[in-house]
Parts: sequence; C-alpha cells; structure tokens
Amino acid sequence: MSDTRKPIVIVGSITMDMVTRTPRIPAIGQTLIGTGFETTPGGKGANQAVAASRLGYPVAMIAKVGDDAYGPALIENLKRAGVETAAISLAAGSSGLAPMFVAEDGLNAIVVVPGANSKMDRAAVDKHAELIRSAGMVLCQLEIPMDTLSYTLDFCARTGVPVMLDPAPAAALPDAVWSNVAWFTPNETEAAFYVGDGASVEDSADRLLAKGLRGVALKRGEEGAYVALAGGRAQWVKPFKVDAIDTVAAGDCFNGAFAVALLEGKDPWSAARFANAAAAICVTRKGAAASMPSRAEVDVFLRKNS
Ligand code: RIB
Repeated sequence: MSDTRKPIVIVGSITMDMVTRTPRIPAIGQTLIGTGFETTPGGKGANQAVAASRLGYPVAMIAKVGDDAYGPALIENLKRAGVETAAISLAAGSSGLAPMFVAEDGLNAIVVVPGANSKMDRAAVDKHAELIRSAGMVLCQLEIPMDTLSYTLDFCARTGVPVMLDPAPAAALPDAVWSNVAWFTPNETEAAFYVGDGASVEDSADRLLAKGLRGVALKRGEEGAYVALAGGRAQWVKPFKVDAIDTVAAGDCFNGAFAVALLEGKDPWSAARFANAAAAICVTRKGAAASMPSRAEVDVFLRKNS
C-alpha cells in the first residue's frame, strides 16, 4: 500500500561540511595542531531532511547544489537516507560549503559559504508549488535568500500549510514572516538575537509569541527545551544526559524529530521529548547528517531512559 501521509517538505540548504577536529576552538591569531579533517554532508535544511526521514517519515527537499564534485554526492547522500530528491537541481558554480572547527568538548564554530544555496529563488518555489501544497508541514531555515524564504512562507500561509522556521543563522526577519510561522525554534543565541540579551527563557518565549507566532520551541541544549503556545500553555521539557562528542546539527535533529512527532499527533511537549531524545543520540556521534538516529534507535533510547 502506498504511503498516504502528507510529506514533510524542506525548502532549504544543502552544504558540504569541512570539519577540522581540534583540541579547542583556536583564538584569533593562534595556530593549533588539529586531530583530524573530514568532508561530510550537512546544511541545516539537508540535516533536518535526513533527521525526519531516518525516523521513518516521508520527506522531500526543494534545494540547489552546485555543479561541482560535491553536488551529486550531496544529492546521493540524501537519497540514501530516503529523502525524495526530485526537486533538488544543479546550479552552475560551487555547492554550499561549511568550514568548521569541532573541539574535543563537542562545541563548534562554523562559517557557511552559501554557494548554490544563494541561488534558491522564487522560481524554484513556483516550480514545486504542488509539492509544497501537498505537505503536512514545511521546514525552513535561514540559509537561503530572505526573499525566497518570505515568498515560501507567504505561499504556505495562503495554501494552509503549517511552517516550522528554524531561525538559524539568526538574521532580521521581515514583519510579515512572523504571523506565517506555526513553530519557531531558536537556540539560546538566536532567541537573544530576536528579543535582546538578558531575558529569561520564559520571557523570551512570551516576547517571541507576541510577534504573532503560534508556537515556540526554545532549544536550550543541556537544559532541554521550553515549548510555549500562543494563548498561554507553556512547559519545560527535560533533557537527557549523555556524553556529547559533537554538537553539530543537534538543533537540526531536534527540528526534524519535532516535526515528525507533531505530524504523528503527539502534543507539543511529548513531541519535544521525542526530539530531545533524538538530539541526545545525535550529539554522541560525529558529523551532521551522518549523526541522525533511526526510529528504532530513538525508541530503544526512550525505553532505556524513561
Ligand atoms: O546546523 C549545522 C549545520 O550548520 C552544519 O551542517 C553546517 O552545514 C551549517 O549549515
């Protein structure tokens, strides 16, 4: 029998991560001896696509990669994870690239060079309008041009498709965006960008909701997540304690898993618990897309840690 679930559709970025492993993040002007180097598929959009797909949900991605050596490899990686890639096209020039440092304590510093992601335009959205219309939820991030993001969100609002926006990397958003977002999922730094430094987590959620959002999930790493709805219901969702070795893409893992759980009918707090579990597994593994757990792994983890 064919899958009748409405897919998760990602309109976002695909990137090749260029990871230098190092004892610690170097200071300005400092030279360190690294412990390893690898190129491994990433990009916030692609990571979220792989996260949701590995959890057994149908996922399609609308994106662009370069016509360089990385482009076909990046598409192939998504295919292997079960993501529908028919709406990913090749653009002349370089793929998105992300040189980064990952330190021994698992923390990272990343620079994203957009490449083909900067060529995601309105035409790409128009071309795949039917796919977007068919979605159970659209997931976006801020690694494609802001004009394309606004255009996508406006289309989703007009066609009644809920959007989860991961505001990463944080950037100023046009006023019209806020009321077109069902779920807004900043981490600590991103939340501070939108509401200012020094606000408590609960206050940050209230201030974000006041901008017209319907729901926020504030990702707080080792503190867990704080999930709040317009209208007043709000609750912390506890983290799971693990030994993190690489936190790259943990937030993406949360988003993919959160979207899956919401679409499967979980309430937002149970969905965030499921997403916390997936992200907890993700940080115990190296890599971005490569670190996303399967549904069976999350189920076993939740049984062991209930
Ligand atoms: O969120 C992690 C991702 O951010 C990395 O995979 C890198 O590509 C950057 O986009």
